[in-house]
Amino acid sequence: MRFIIAIALLFCHSNATAYNRAACQSASLQTVATACPPNTLAVGPSANFKTIQAAIKSIPSNSNAYIILIQPGTYQEQVNITRSGPVTLLGATSAPNDASKNSVTILWKAATGTKETGNGDNAFTSTLTVAPTLDASLTGSGPTGHAVAPGTKFGNTDFRAYNVDFVNDFKQTSAGPSLAVSVSYANAGFYYCRVKSYQDTVYVGKLGNAYFDKSEIAGQTDFLYGFGTAWIQSSTLQLRGCGGGITAWKGTNTTFPNKYGVYIHESKVVKASTSLSIRGKCSLGRPWNSMHRSIFSKTEMDDSIRSAGYTTWSSSETRVHSETMMAEYSNTGPGFNAAGRREGKISHVLSDSEFAGYSSPAKVFQSPDGKFGNVEWIDTKPEA
Ligand SMILES: *[C@@H]1O[C@H](CO)[C@@H](O)[C@H](O)[C@H]1NC(C)=O
Ligand SMILES: *[C@@H]1O[C@H](CO)[C@@H](O)[C@H](O)[C@H]1NC(C)=O
Repeated sequence: MRFIIAIALLFCHSNATAYNRAACQSASLQTVATACPPNTLAVGPSANFKTIQAAIKSIPSNSNAYIILIQPGTYQEQVNITRSGPVTLLGATSAPNDASKNSVTILWKAATGTKETGNGDNAFTSTLTVAPTLDASLTGSGPTGHAVAPGTKFGNTDFRAYNVDFVNDFKQTSAGPSLAVSVSYANAGFYYCRVKSYQDTVYVGKLGNAYFDKSEIAGQTDFLYGFGTAWIQSSTLQLRGCGGGITAWKGTNTTFPNKYGVYIHESKVVKASTSLSIRGKCSLGRPWNSMHRSIFSKTEMDDSIRSAGYTTWSSSETRVHSETMMAEYSNTGPGFNAAGRREGKISHVLSDSEFAGYSSPAKVFQSPDGKFGNVEWIDTKPEA
């Protein structure tokens, strides 16, 4: 009996893809065919595919699940996932449960809104984009952002990445929007990944659902932003400086009740390096429009966080109204100053009953027509 349980634990628990992730990720090019499921494409300097995007382009647009196994190295390219069938990116590694030992980096260097770059949409800067069309991935501007073309079909229903680092390092500081990951009209899960840029690092666009587990996200300005829904579980948010806030969300009026927003749960907020002098300076978030919704819950914060927690959009334009939800629940650490939060009157510390409606991914992730419980695509036991 014990033996059977041990074997079962070796395999991924998701319905879509039951395979031995650790075995596949430690396979050599010669053993991929036996260690990985069918429909695994290898990418690497001496593999069939030299770039990740070339492997993705070769995948037929049907509903079969595909795995892309990436050999160690840095791949300087933009990766776009448009198909609706499941796609998993696996970074080769012998430490599949430890993001700090990742050996695969996808690197891009782009920003917008600067003298050198011009003012294209943020979408063009992203290292990874999971969206059915370019139009669906555009950020746009104004309180409601880009209006995605009516009738746009949902994109990927089950995108996953394990042990891959997504980096946009246009400048070693905040210098305009510089996306590392962008998810719109799609469901995307990230496990043991590291996502790094300085500004607008993770974009969760219209109808985007993004889940991060046991991962690291490093940024400086508004580095979790968007319109959709993100859940960050058991992960570390690294502050590379302070700018705007950690979260900057735009809510949307829908005909059904929605919980679009960003939820940081059982995670850590820490300065990226001990040499940074940002004590008491960084904001948990600010309202990109007045319907901003974000909750930091059961999260440990170091002393980088301001005593009031959140901030207004700017001093001339607060964007804080009765519908704005800049909230916290059961946070700990020197960055959570209960008295400071009360005095600041901007962070809303939730009661048990107020938090109850937001306490699990199933309560917040919705299908495009507003049904809750859209979590089939989440790997709830990602350990390999
Ligand atoms: C990916 O999409 C962006 C726009 O979002 C585009 O600029 C870029 O050329 C695309 N790259 C590839 C490799 O398809
Ligand atoms: C949502 O609806 C409210 C009430 O009608 C309105 O004040 C607000 O501007 C709307 N927000 C957006 C982003 O459409």
